[in-house]
Amino acid sequence: MKVSGTIRVPGDKSISHRSLILASLADGDSRIRGILDSRDIQSTASVLRALGVNVPELSADFTLRGNGLRGYSQPREDLDCGNSGTTARLIMGAIAGNEIFARIVGDESLSRRPMRRVTEPLAEMGAVIEYPGKADSLPVTITGGKLHALDWDNVTSSAQVKSAILLAGLTGKARVAVNETIASRDHTERMLRAMGAKVETVKKRVELKPVKTLNPLDIQVPGDPSSAAYFIAAAVLSESGELRLSNVCLNTTRTGFIMILIAAGASIEYENERLSGGELVGDILVRPAQLGAMEVDVDDIVSMIDEIPLLACVAAAAGVEVRVTGAAELRAKESDRIAVTAANLRAIGVQVEELPDGFHIKEGKQKLRGTVKTHEDHRIAMSFGVLEKVTGGDVTVDERDSVAVSYPAFWNDLDRVIQ
Ligand code: S3P
Repeated sequence: MKVSGTIRVPGDKSISHRSLILASLADGDSRIRGILDSRDIQSTASVLRALGVNVPELSADFTLRGNGLRGYSQPREDLDCGNSGTTARLIMGAIAGNEIFARIVGDESLSRRPMRRVTEPLAEMGAVIEYPGKADSLPVTITGGKLHALDWDNVTSSAQVKSAILLAGLTGKARVAVNETIASRDHTERMLRAMGAKVETVKKRVELKPVKTLNPLDIQVPGDPSSAAYFIAAAVLSESGELRLSNVCLNTTRTGFIMILIAAGASIEYENERLSGGELVGDILVRPAQLGAMEVDVDDIVSMIDEIPLLACVAAAAGVEVRVTGAAELRAKESDRIAVTAANLRAIGVQVEELPDGFHIKEGKQKLRGTVKTHEDHRIAMSFGVLEKVTGGDVTVDERDSVAVSYPAFWNDLDRVIQ
């Protein structure tokens, strides 16, 4: 297996969601370049349209006229967030300060995911929230309006929770503070600062002071490090060649996977590092390497939360030991990613022990062969898709369509750089 060429992965999913939502709250025209065009981002775009925001067709370079901080109109339909947890959770925060009533729904997977972590702080601020079905699950109804200040401990270290609270503070014109034990991705804070908001981070406490208006955004969305991770993994596991990934977001709250691989002996270098729109961006050069054992604990998890299934696949292909703990949050993602990863690894001949908050894969190079179930979870499909590629098809995934949630061209790009 040889890796070669240069790849420009699509725009960062987290930054793309936030660019649409924050631009919708600005006064004036925001310019957004390089947005990710995928199912999840289309969910955010269509939810904003239902709230009366004039979001144009997504393209490589477009402008979006904001409605101002409290400019959403009463939606006439349910706000369908599809598969996207970020859409559901962030939009609740943005709605909270608007005097409207909205019903938020999602697909089957999203309807199984916990929402109380967001609705609890928003209700504490004064939003009226109800669960017409099962408590903690979509559908959720929310009536926004006048909000009070909040000081909240973000116990799950979820960036979605932190962002929802910041958005509620912004639209509700209330002072909010969020305390974290492990710093989660900070794209919302960076973008807000670029738009003139007063957001201060001291140690792991983020504070937002009310502002009257938000300036428009001018952003070039950098490449998604979570999408880049699949190619980094495939290149590390290849036999020869080198791969360059250009224009990737290198924010340290997102690069835990790269750091763990480097610690295990991978050859990964950053080049052309620069600041763009308040984010560190650069190119990544990867060469094949022999890996050693890996240990991932609670302090590492947040900065590689979406890459844990991929790390398991890398360990399985390299035949190295990996122990992951402190990752119970993975059970609340698009699928139960601990159970699904462990079951799939077993199905292809890997010895794995499932733990309540992670897994343990033992050292030993086995022949990997068999079919895995993605459960329509895009990250499971792409993680095991890398194994499909590096085993020359001995491992196969049972569906390929779910990658459209975050990376529609994934399979083509993988075929292009790995032969
Ligand atoms: C995201 C945060 C993470 C991540 C998700 C995107 C975001 O979720 O898993 O894919 O854009 O804020 P949590 O914040 O719930 O950990």
